[in-house]
Amino acid sequence: MVERETPTPAIEALRRPISHVWFGGDYNPEQWPEAVLLEDIDLMQQAAVNTATVGVFSWAALEPQPGEYDFGWLDAALDRLHSAGVKVILATPTASPPPWFSRLHPEALPVTPDGVRLIHGSRDTYNPAAPAYRDAARRITRVLAERYGDHPALAMWHLHNEYGTVSYGPVTDVAATWNTAFWSQVYSSWEDIHAPQRTQYIPNPAHLLDFKRFSSDMLLRCLRDQLEIVREVTPGVPTTTNFMLPTWHHYDEWDFARELDVVTIDHYPEDGPSGDAQVAFAADLARSFAGGRPWLLMEQATSLVYDYAGGRMLAKAPGRMRRNTYQYLARGSFGSLFFQWRAPRVGAEFFHSAMVPHVGPDSRIFREIRDLGAELAGVPELSAGPIEGRVVESRTAIVWDSTAWWATETRMLPSADVAYLPALRRVHEALWRSGVTADFVDPNGDPSQYDLVLVPSMIAVSDSQREAFDRFVANGGHLAVWYLSGSTDEHLRVREGSYSAAFAELAGVRVEEHAPLRDGQNLTLSEGTCASAWSEVLHVRGAEVVASYGADAPAVIAPGSAAITRNVRGSGVVHYFSTRVEGDDLQRHLARIVADAGIEAAVLPDGVEHVVRRTKTGALRIFINHTERAQTVRATGRNVLSNTDVDGDVAVAAGDVLIVRIETSPEGSRK
Ligand code: GAL
Repeated sequence: MVERETPTPAIEALRRPISHVWFGGDYNPEQWPEAVLLEDIDLMQQAAVNTATVGVFSWAALEPQPGEYDFGWLDAALDRLHSAGVKVILATPTASPPPWFSRLHPEALPVTPDGVRLIHGSRDTYNPAAPAYRDAARRITRVLAERYGDHPALAMWHLHNEYGTVSYGPVTDVAATWNTAFWSQVYSSWEDIHAPQRTQYIPNPAHLLDFKRFSSDMLLRCLRDQLEIVREVTPGVPTTTNFMLPTWHHYDEWDFARELDVVTIDHYPEDGPSGDAQVAFAADLARSFAGGRPWLLMEQATSLVYDYAGGRMLAKAPGRMRRNTYQYLARGSFGSLFFQWRAPRVGAEFFHSAMVPHVGPDSRIFREIRDLGAELAGVPELSAGPIEGRVVESRTAIVWDSTAWWATETRMLPSADVAYLPALRRVHEALWRSGVTADFVDPNGDPSQYDLVLVPSMIAVSDSQREAFDRFVANGGHLAVWYLSGSTDEHLRVREGSYSAAFAELAGVRVEEHAPLRDGQNLTLSEGTCASAWSEVLHVRGAEVVASYGADAPAVIAPGSAAITRNVRGSGVVHYFSTRVEGDDLQRHLARIVADAGIEAAVLPDGVEHVVRRTKTGALRIFINHTERAQTVRATGRNVLSNTDVDGDVAVAAGDVLIVRIETSPEGSRK
């Protein structure tokens, strides 16, 4: 979690403009004629919209020629929204420089790993390290801040959109710790050093990792450029930039979050039940990046979005949008904004879903939006409200580590099966199914507020991180570590003596050999657990064996040797998984580990999500039924959606939500 003082003045400022759940979407008035803009206001009022995100990609409309501005349409849009009581999140349009910029500054266009300079025609055609781009972005930011800083509709700055452009061009060539004593890579001149463009054979993984860090820093520098300007010109107006979770990973979110007043995310979950788990995953990440404070869902879609791999757009089932919205709100969002208000008729996203679809308001989607808007207007407790401490209490945290993600993207790890995001999602989903709400923790942060910390796939661990984990366990913390974690230092230098060396002593094990499994190969461990993807020659050095390998393990592993272990270290405990365990088996093992740490999981019917969200005056106990049949839960308090009291067994209809006001949060941290 990000450490921050509570409450910051900027967060306090959020309460003032909008006292309800923020509801609305990305609005592009520059795309529409007057008659449509008037209808927009009418429909926004019908749908209880109170927030519009304006100007996200409007640079060419605002500055059609270098230094020549056209503010008429934006002035009119902001005034119109203001008179309708709609607050504006005003974006800086820097994610899409205009064509004239690319013509004047071809050196600021992004370059691919193949050395190809991209041309204009889409969006995000800029190189964050190019001085001309930074200058132009600073100029348009200042112009907007000076013009609209005092506008009464302005609620928040939305800086840029989804930072994430990476360029491998000449202005990005830099150097750092690359472990070059290999394949004659010792550099003798700065001129010999390049961004890791495509090379003859396998590139140096440390070079790739360092380039990811460099790109992240370049994007951070662009964000800071804009923050500095809006904070100088419009002090007190909260700032954000929208993170694209959880599939994009071009910068370190902890670094970005520390700079912002409000963390916002865009989220487009996948189809099916795993999509619901993914909503909880993204929301827990967002809350953690926000330091446990309320955060904002900046974009979701009213229907499913283009699945680039599958090449199709699937529809969201009726009711799913509402159910997912309550998941985000339960887990700390103070609003539900959509991409986008009105479906565009043209452009790359011309068939993208919207709050007002192409067919108009006489549609299932608009009716669902209108009903959701009305319902959310009745639950003001879910709004930003000043809350001291964490909006959702959790005693369990999963380490979220950018370095680990980037490291697993470099080629030549012992198995292609060690992708970072799936490893984290497996663990989070198993906890989610078990009714355990998890935070994520910064690998350089302080884990001491948690009782249980989980470390899946954190390959690179620095000495100071290792010491922090040692201290955590010495102070009675419980740690669960998965294979490959801690096998290298932060520069991808393999640690010697044991694999997973940074954790081996703590876990009471020595990993002598990696034995990755074949695609589709499954092993059965001693107590029935199904294992896959990876195995290890694991020796115990004090740990107890929870599960051992059988005769179906690779030949290097002696049948009966340890696969999953548990090690008591003073008042702390360290669990080690030398193989991949998924689904029900993982849920069972995590239930054991959670109970071992003294954490009580909520007792729930399968498929029912439960979160306690703190509010200004108490807490809301929120149940979300993801199944297709009614489920019974136990709750006492005021049902805030039906305005009735409940006490004892309560039925939650298929796909429905129950929100019960309780006096205080029943969950607390041991520490
Ligand atoms: C988001 C982006 C929007 C829009 C949307 C489509 O990532 O911020 O501008 O492109 O995706 O789903």
